[in-house]
Amino acid sequence: MKIVTIVGARPQFIKAATVSRVISVHHKDDLKEVIVHTGQHFDEKMSEIFFKEMDIPEPDYNLGINSMSHGAMTGQMLEKIEELLLREKPDLTLVYGDTNTTLAGALAAVKIHIPVAHVEAGLRSFNMHMPEEINRVVTDRVSSLLFCPTPMAIKNLKAEGYPNRLYDGKEQKVLCVGDVMYDAALFYSGRVQKEPDILKDLKLKKGEFVLCTIHRSENTDNRDRLKEILLALSHISKSIEVVLPLHPRTGKIIDSDVVLKDIASTLKIIEPVGYFDMISLIMSCQIVMTDSGGLQKEAYFFKKYCITMRDETEWIELVEHSVNFLAGAKRDTIISIYENISSREFVDSNGLYGDGKAAEKVVESILKYVG
Ligand code: UD1
Ligand code: UDP
Repeated sequence: MKIVTIVGARPQFIKAATVSRVISVHHKDDLKEVIVHTGQHFDEKMSEIFFKEMDIPEPDYNLGINSMSHGAMTGQMLEKIEELLLREKPDLTLVYGDTNTTLAGALAAVKIHIPVAHVEAGLRSFNMHMPEEINRVVTDRVSSLLFCPTPMAIKNLKAEGYPNRLYDGKEQKVLCVGDVMYDAALFYSGRVQKEPDILKDLKLKKGEFVLCTIHRSENTDNRDRLKEILLALSHISKSIEVVLPLHPRTGKIIDSDVVLKDIASTLKIIEPVGYFDMISLIMSCQIVMTDSGGLQKEAYFFKKYCITMRDETEWIELVEHSVNFLAGAKRDTIISIYENISSREFVDSNGLYGDGKAAEKVVESILKYVG
């Protein structure tokens, strides 16, 4: 049996690492995985580093499609993915998350009647202004196997009337398998250094810095929001170091704006880091502040509070368990939430994201489906 896995953006490498590892360790003889990298992320620190560190097999194809508008990027990906799917003739196409790469992979496959499996199905922000929400709604609708990370995701799909029947007359399979990012955190955290070099290199002490990332379009493409966030971080940086491994998208915007650059000059801005360094930073920080999807969960995995600088989140269970605080993008709100929770002891509410065996469940379900 053969599957084509389609990845392209940083969080997808991390998610796919877990499933690829299960395939190569347990199913080498019964399942061939062809890996396609669309090229959406391409800097060494946004792409290659993850393949190397996490032992992800080299992609069989790299389409080199990036840095375009949504339509152009998705369109070019569709065309190239269709070509290679016709050549490879897989039994199934596997996609992850909610990026343009996810949407292009799912659409290309379903149009030529190759079943799609979607890992991280059922998530909703209910904000159709976000490119990610459009990508996930469409991807879910055309997928044959929907791997949900949480009961909330299942609930969302039920509310939308899932399961549906697809082109082959078969009903979609909606399964709650847990979160592959939890699998990754459990497996790879065993490999991080006890006294990580990154802390020494950045002269950071455990518990004495805030870890921050910002890259979502609703923040970076809106100057007012980005400015408010940076002002909040800059204020916080008067009392504690704020470390910001910066996505190139945000880096380019800050660099080209004198005012934003000046505000950001009080922060410890570094290049994006690899997964191991990122885990080390999460484990050692005081608190996480982010607009990332993945990082919100990783903060929880490593028992850190998270301030989410967005107006809504797909990972609503974290907010309900009071470990994640939605701050939006208003300077005063962000600062006051930080002041409220930064010295609070983390209260654990285990088990929100499965048992660490999500990837195994994904592979077993795929084998059963195509077998
Ligand atoms: C994409 C996803 C987003 C996800 C994020 C993960 C979509 C619509 N968005 O957003 O959901 O949270 O990835 O990080 O798919 N760039 C570089 N070098 C790189 C990668 C990007 O310079 O290695 C630049 C591109 O040239 C572009 C900008 O960053 O100008 C945005 O990249 P793009 O892939 O379009 O979207 P992301 O913001 O990365
Ligand atoms: N990440 C990383 N290095 C960084 C920033 C993030 O390894 O410099 C990891 C992070 O730990 C998480 C994933 O990238 O596993 C999240 O990806 P990102 O924030 O880019 O996308 P999102 O989850 O928002 O779609």
